[in-house]
Amino acid sequence: MLTMERRQLLKQSVFALAAFSFSRNSYAKEEAALLAHHPLNNATDIIRLGQNENPHGPSSMTKKAMLEAISSSNRYQLDLNGEVRTAIAKLTGHSKENISLGAGSSELLGVVSLWAAYQKGNVVASEPTFKLWMPAARKMGLVTKLVPLTNTKHNDLQRLIDTIDSQTKMVYLCNPNNPTGTVSSKIDLEQFIKKIAPEVIILLDEAYTDYYDSPSMSYLVNAYPNVVIAKTFSKVYGMAGARIGYILAHANTIKQLNEFQAWANAGPSAVSMQGAIAVMKDEAFINFCKTENIKAKSILYNGFDKIGIAHIKSYTSFVYFDTATYQKDIPALLLANNIIGARSFEQNSSWLRISIGTTTEMEKVVQALI
Ligand SMILES: Cc1ncc(COP(=O)(O)O)c(C=O)c1O
Repeated sequence: MLTMERRQLLKQSVFALAAFSFSRNSYAKEEAALLAHHPLNNATDIIRLGQNENPHGPSSMTKKAMLEAISSSNRYQLDLNGEVRTAIAKLTGHSKENISLGAGSSELLGVVSLWAAYQKGNVVASEPTFKLWMPAARKMGLVTKLVPLTNTKHNDLQRLIDTIDSQTKMVYLCNPNNPTGTVSSKIDLEQFIKKIAPEVIILLDEAYTDYYDSPSMSYLVNAYPNVVIAKTFSKVYGMAGARIGYILAHANTIKQLNEFQAWANAGPSAVSMQGAIAVMKDEAFINFCKTENIKAKSILYNGFDKIGIAHIKSYTSFVYFDTATYQKDIPALLLANNIIGARSFEQNSSWLRISIGTTTEMEKVVQALI
């Protein structure tokens, strides 16, 4: 028998799912709209630079493991979840009780915000930041209090703290921040975490820390049970379409959050889990992706410098740049060259974000703009 609370929660989850599919659909529509105007609609030679995907993935080791896993897809594989968590634990220096898996980290951002919404109140977050989880959280009744970035487009840690009030249940911080690519230092983040009351959940989205070895705050999860770190296999690990991500938190926090997932076997498929186990061992692939990303990014930086387009040093696989001094419509110009993905994330702003593709792709971006 479901308790009242559990029934209420499941009812709310249905609304949350509806809101999630709404935001996902509107995202897909944006890309479809871009392609609809394109003579090569559905063409494979389009350069996609809108969603910060890894152009080199999945690795050959991942593909091999996934292919092999397909043949046992008729079976539930309950032990596999533990195996992946053990591998992540080894990679990150935690224990498997500190880890929960999801079908991408966005599923888990949803779970954590559902948890916060369930406690009623508000969430404090930067503007702009990664907001795909917000429509569902709002539908669940969570009020969003947004804090502008500093004038260097960094998360304004002090102002975020100052915005917390007695109703705040969660602070979401994306570090490095998406869409700006800026990063806060380990010392500043430590201070930030220390200053926030233990009953406020601190959801740190570290989707991009692995790309540039930016500071991960995951070493604090056992000391601070209110800290939840979200990580993903979608970026440097090259598995965006496979949908696998995880959170790191205190074992008790993980236990509480797991109650918000449908069941122990929810989350990524067995095929994706085998792929994740394989890619964690594929150091050569990860190093290759990091190196290529740096090369491709410097091609873009040099191009921007030549053209006179201001841009921010990025600790991620995308770059935020200012079109104010450029005379032409950059998204339209890129589209005319089969390149999609230069996107705006701020209202009435001249700043756009573009993902980093291969070196050849970034050369094409520069050629299109010069
Ligand atoms: C900051 C950030 N967090 C989370 C995600 C979602 O990643 P996943 O594919 O793991 O759901 C993204 C995807 O672009 C992102 O940029």
